Amino acid sequence: MIRTSVVPVAGLGTRLSPLTRAVPKELLPLGRKPVLQTVIEELGASGIEEVVLVTSARKQALFEAHFMAENDGVDESVKMPVIHYAIQHEQLGLGHAVLCGEELVQQRPFVVALGDAMIGLADHASLCQRMIRVFEENDADAVIAFQLVPRDKVSRYGIAELAGTYQTDSEYFELAGLVEKPSVADAPSEFAIAARYICKPVLFELLRSTEAGAGSEIQLTDALQRLIKSGGKVLGVPITNRERRYDVGSFDSYFTAFIEAAVNDSECGDRVRRELAKALASDSSRFTE
Ligand code: G1P
Repeated sequence: MIRTSVVPVAGLGTRLSPLTRAVPKELLPLGRKPVLQTVIEELGASGIEEVVLVTSARKQALFEAHFMAENDGVDESVKMPVIHYAIQHEQLGLGHAVLCGEELVQQRPFVVALGDAMIGLADHASLCQRMIRVFEENDADAVIAFQLVPRDKVSRYGIAELAGTYQTDSEYFELAGLVEKPSVADAPSEFAIAARYICKPVLFELLRSTEAGAGSEIQLTDALQRLIKSGGKVLGVPITNRERRYDVGSFDSYFTAFIEAAVNDSECGDRVRRELAKALASDSSRFTE
């Protein structure tokens, strides 16, 4: 049973300046809720009982202000996990952030969910639940979510090297390697890591001795690559056509995610769709006049 999750939320959000001068990017709204609340609900719906938010001291106070307030607007069908905080004193990379959660996770398998990215809008628990099932049924050492990205975007992501060819009717594939932010020429596939992982605690061991890699940061991808190379069984679970990864890491993806949330809002969605359609129609006539 996997009951614990590490959610790294210490990043500075510099790509979203000036929006993130005072507001952490993980508290930016996607429709009615901050993205981080949706992530934590996703974890709760997948059976996670404890979440370790790895953050900075300044951001911790802001997250507490949100999560300690009354639970209005929370998806009531979901049992909210208990939130713990771990402080990352230096921003040394995603791998380092995950390592900061070790003391609270202890020697248990755990989910890593990036706090600035959510999966899908409806039925959001299914990917995480699927990953947990694949992890348990195959006695894997790690399971990673993947999405296909256009070839010219591979250098923004961690990219998979597949052990064989991927059968599209299969729920998972086996990994032969991983590379963080490769050049277009060097990318071994177009399968990009999509913000969700499941790891055995041996990963902490590997992270402790992983040197800085891409962007001079200690990369989670590099520790997972070492796990594969040392004989670990690491499986990839592709997200389905019904699932999408939305992140708030840059303005274009944030705007797209917000619009998606707004048009799917149960109360206002239809109205927003009509207004958007009107705005787009008048916009195109403006440009063609
Ligand atoms: C991180 C990971 C990368 C992954 C991406 C999206 O990159 O390092 O492997 O593909 O998240 O989940 P970042 O977006 O922090 O640069």
